[in-house]
Amino acid sequence: MERFVSAEEVRQALGAARRDGKSVALVPTMGALHGGHLTLVRAARKRADVVVASIFVNPAQFGPDEDFEAYPRDMTRDLELLAAEDVDVVFTPTVEAMYPLGSETVVEPGTIATLWEGESRPGHFTGVCTVVAKLFDIVQPDIAFFGEKDYQQLVIVRRIVRDLHYGLRVAGVPIVRDRDGLALSSRNAYLSPEQRAAALVLSRALEAVRQQASAGERDALALARLLAEEVAGTSLAELDYAAIVDCETLEQLDVLDGPARAIVAARFGRARLIDNVPIALAGDAVRHLAAAGEATCETPA
Ligand code: PAF
Repeated sequence: MERFVSAEEVRQALGAARRDGKSVALVPTMGALHGGHLTLVRAARKRADVVVASIFVNPAQFGPDEDFEAYPRDMTRDLELLAAEDVDVVFTPTVEAMYPLGSETVVEPGTIATLWEGESRPGHFTGVCTVVAKLFDIVQPDIAFFGEKDYQQLVIVRRIVRDLHYGLRVAGVPIVRDRDGLALSSRNAYLSPEQRAAALVLSRALEAVRQQASAGERDALALARLLAEEVAGTSLAELDYAAIVDCETLEQLDVLDGPARAIVAARFGRARLIDNVPIALAGDAVRHLAAAGEATCETPA
């Protein structure tokens, strides 16, 4: 595995691979790698000749009161994990390399980025889209892998790829959970044992909603209420939002009439956690772009 810290080195290394006709996959990360990231890397390994992972804790996507400084970092361990997964190139730029002095250019994703996470974390998605666009420009991948845990991020990245004509595929990879259901997240490291136990309400409540929908409940607002009440009623949980949304527009639904997502965010102490599940109506013609691995609403098996 080769490690590069400058964009120029990455361009040179990948230029040679591309001239040899090799396909390139990108797995962007902020490090503190866990099983969810490794699943992205394994999916990338299956789909491309050259796998590039980036590790960059992007200051632009953290609000002033958020955890940029405290965000877990362990470069040595991350590099070992990536090498063990047969990653070819790891890109670990500095803040100065990604944001040259005086740089002001940003990628504004539009209205969809003002919903949900965007409402709770103003400017977050501008920071995400700006850094993702820079990574796409540097690496020029044929395909990039993003986890469904950050479902809104996945949908927004697909939009910028479409809107800015990046001409690459965005593959969504299903959430990886611990045995007890907790979605893997680098921020789980902030949880005390009590908070971790309380946080299981997220996956439990989402699963209850998913089951009610597949049993025929069509009242999306009632399902969202159920989700909200379950989470808000848990001690140590501070609910941020709970909703049933259209899986492409992310707009809140009143009635379930197509593929949707149940989404939830809550704080447990200093850990702000998000989680979601697909809500598919039984017998629905869910849009599958299975072969390409790029369905927005459902990720193919
Ligand atoms: O999902 C993440 O870890 C980050 O938002 C990403 C995509 C690496 C951009 O910094």
